[in-house]
Amino acid sequence: MSKKPIIVFEGIEGSGKTSHINNVSNYLKKKKIKFLKLREPGGSVNAEKIRKLILNNKSNFNKNTDLLLYLASRSENIEIIKKNMGIKVILIDRFVDSTIAYQHYGMGVSMKIINIINHLLLGKIKVNFTFLNLVDKKNMLQRLSKRKKLNRYDKFKNLFYSRVQKGFIKISNKNPKKYLRINSNLDLTINKKLIISKIKQLI
Ligand code: TMP
Repeated sequence: MSKKPIIVFEGIEGSGKTSHINNVSNYLKKKKIKFLKLREPGGSVNAEKIRKLILNNKSNFNKNTDLLLYLASRSENIEIIKKNMGIKVILIDRFVDSTIAYQHYGMGVSMKIINIINHLLLGKIKVNFTFLNLVDKKNMLQRLSKRKKLNRYDKFKNLFYSRVQKGFIKISNKNPKKYLRINSNLDLTINKKLIISKIKQLI
């Protein structure tokens, strides 16, 4: 691929996506390949302010407000993505699929509304590849129990995360060539190798 790709890491809480994105950024650093790493919600200075608001344990927004805040955070990242698109490898910890998985499949917000706003925000931005990290209930709970601080979205019922993960799988089934499913119940080192070998093909 001559143009630098946009690569997204998706998955529910405790699925290991953040470890993998960090491992990939270390790899790119070592190889002296220019890249930009963002996370959603958050990323840019303004988007990080919105992240704090959404995930604060004292917040109790309704599902539509949550949707609009996630999209507001995305809107603050779009300019940065546009500026770097094709020039640097762009790694994003969660993006559009998270909104469909959490707000639509998890919370029941209309897919149509999500798609319309995402379409408006993204314009010509297209994700080239997504690593979808999948984890079973036992490992998810074990990993969440090790976190020092749990945010508002770390505290939903198991059933919610199960709906969200099924949502991610449905999304990836629509375009299987653009996804690699990572079985995060397996050994971390094996998965790291698998992801890096795919990254080598992508960049
Ligand atoms: P993080 O802890 O992986 O950074 O993600 C924060 C939470 O935000 C996570 O529970 C997923 C949720 N989220 C949504 O519900 N919708 C979205 O569009 C995004 C980007 C994240």
